[in-house]
Amino acid sequence: MAREFSKVAVVGLGTMGAGIVEVFARNAIDVVAIEVDDAAVEKGRGVLQHSTDRAVSRGKLSEDDQAALHSRVHFTSSIDEVADCQLVIEAVPEHLHLKREIFAKLDAVVGPDAILATNTSSLSVTEIAVATSNPKRVVGMHFFNPAPVLQFVEVIRTVVTEDEVFEDVKALAQRLGKQPVVVGDKAGFIANALLFGYLNHAVAMFESKYASREDIDAAMKLGCGYPMGPLALMDLIGLDTAYEILDTMYKQGRDRLHAPSPILKQMVSAGLKGRKSGRGFYTYA
Ligand code: CAA
Repeated sequence: MAREFSKVAVVGLGTMGAGIVEVFARNAIDVVAIEVDDAAVEKGRGVLQHSTDRAVSRGKLSEDDQAALHSRVHFTSSIDEVADCQLVIEAVPEHLHLKREIFAKLDAVVGPDAILATNTSSLSVTEIAVATSNPKRVVGMHFFNPAPVLQFVEVIRTVVTEDEVFEDVKALAQRLGKQPVVVGDKAGFIANALLFGYLNHAVAMFESKYASREDIDAAMKLGCGYPMGPLALMDLIGLDTAYEILDTMYKQGRDRLHAPSPILKQMVSAGLKGRKSGRGFYTYA
């Protein structure tokens, strides 16, 4: 019988983690929302508040439904509070050692039937899984930014992921209104493997002063009908995250397409991380 998912946890409340919390809470599932300390918890709470306020102001969510949504989310800085959750999704920054450390901790706290999922974009789910005592219950569940909006999830199965685990996560994605696709454990999976070469090329074009940021974005948005241009999308994804994804993909495939454009690293070092820091290729109020 398929698992019941009535209470889940999300570890990491950055852009993706906070969005994933919202997706669950919108679908009447209780969520334990975890960050490393109180300041980070408050930041994550702010992201959720901002997103639901926006939905209320656009008339997409009533104030009562907003209150109900927030009442389903329990914020904490204690990872031990995942103990009675049926699923934990990790959405911390893309560093393998950090993710492995978190999975080892989760493995020690959750019940024997709980599923452990990672939202990694490009790291090896297998390498993360083997940091636990039971890699069969580890799976990738990769959402897209903005998570509350985009109706797609890649479900990543390693060579040892149990069939039931995998099927239950696919069914859960459908319950959340997302179309799940099944994909193997290779850096970038489907969407990022296709997307990031293009984004990196746009950054290189900007860096070489071949065209302005506005013209590069206009070409793809207006000329090709994409919802947003590549540099605006880099700002949405976060330049630090985009750098880590490209770097991992480059190290795995060694193809020049994914060798991160030098300006990307410089911008990240200078604190220009895109929308989340107020400035990236563009400046945000
Ligand atoms: N959080 C929650 N909701 C958001 C949002 C956010 N950050 N940004 C936009 N929305 C909502 C809006 O509230 C609005 O909802 P309603 O229609 O219900 O009112 C809807 O999305 C459309 O927003 P806007 O009208 O403001 O703007 P838009 O029509 O230009 O859409 C967009 C904005 C959804 C971001 C759209 O431009 C888009 O889809 N862009 C491409 C995004 C993309 O490619 N994402 C994938 C990135 S790669 C990735 O995520 C993988 C990875 O591992 C890094």
